[in-house]
Amino acid sequence: MALKRVMVLTGGGDCPGLNAVIRGIVKRAAQEKDWEVVGCIESFNGVLREPTEIVMLDEKSVEGLQIQGGTILGTTNKGGPFAWPVKEADGTWTTVDRSDEMLRKLQYMGVDAVINIGGDGSQRISLGLYKKGLNIVGVPKTIDNDLSMTDYTFGFQTAVQICTDAIDKLVTTAASHNRVFIMEVMGRDAGWIALHSAIAGGADVCLIPEIPYDIERIKQKIETRYNKRRGFCVIVIAEGAMPQGGGITGTETGEVGYQHIKLGGVADKLAADLKTAGVEHDIRCTILGHLQRGGTPIAFDRVLAAEFGVRAMEFVIEGQFGQMVAYHHPDIIGVSLEEAVSRPHLIDPNGHLVHTAKGLGIELGN
Ligand code: F6P
Repeated sequence: MALKRVMVLTGGGDCPGLNAVIRGIVKRAAQEKDWEVVGCIESFNGVLREPTEIVMLDEKSVEGLQIQGGTILGTTNKGGPFAWPVKEADGTWTTVDRSDEMLRKLQYMGVDAVINIGGDGSQRISLGLYKKGLNIVGVPKTIDNDLSMTDYTFGFQTAVQICTDAIDKLVTTAASHNRVFIMEVMGRDAGWIALHSAIAGGADVCLIPEIPYDIERIKQKIETRYNKRRGFCVIVIAEGAMPQGGGITGTETGEVGYQHIKLGGVADKLAADLKTAGVEHDIRCTILGHLQRGGTPIAFDRVLAAEFGVRAMEFVIEGQFGQMVAYHHPDIIGVSLEEAVSRPHLIDPNGHLVHTAKGLGIELGN
């Protein structure tokens, strides 16, 4: 009997739990007699490049992978089949659509189905390819937790744990020196990492993109945390946060194929603005950056990643394509890719999480 072939790939920024998903897919496939799994290196680049970069994935190759951070397949958040960067004769860069060529190549390579593990950008690519006839299943990944139609993406809880551990450490040094500490965390346009870790770590102030902040309110909160000279204050700020009437803080990277503004710098900006507003206490900034994406996934993310991997492979076996696996407590279900990318998952300023934060006395800046 000819084996059917499913190709697995990881796209977008890396995230703790990617390897655990790959392991789940391979282990579930191994229970079938008629499926083999191959991995594509660096998102779809492994197919688009010549020579192609495809690896066989068997049970041996995924042994113990649930604890390993990063992705054994490599990843990229640049370019892709619909926007492949090409250098013009004058040295400038443009993009070309190589999706049809890639689909032909996949057919030639005997790929019957694809599982694309990635965030919103990757799932938009999944949708585009599905509309062109590819048998594809999506698996939602991102530390930002900004994909709608799933309660959580894997990697998010690990990032929250890393940030919470960091707050616990900052509190002791802040208290010892009577300082204001501003900790900048990732999350792009969503404040999930910031708000979860601020609640878990007992921060005094939390600033998120969904609630533009008033600097005066933060200044007042800082003063309530001090008795004359003595006291301290811990502020968690999401990289996408902005003052009322202001915009995001970020830079163009100039990297070929990189389509985002690189967010960052909000902590330093807030520190400068607080000084200008008259805060006289010492202020220090800590930017956690990519530490939030590195290392081993916590148990919750390993379980979620395993559930996503196993279910994604079952969708392939059942021939259910154009779907993204999703966690709808208590179930793992399928949602259409179309719905999955239709809108981002942001914090509701009137929702329960904001309510809880306010109930704890956390200043949100509005
Ligand atoms: O989407 C995940 C994420 O880590 C964001 O939180 C962050 O803004 C971005 O990726 C950073 O991207 P890069 O790794 O390209 O700097």
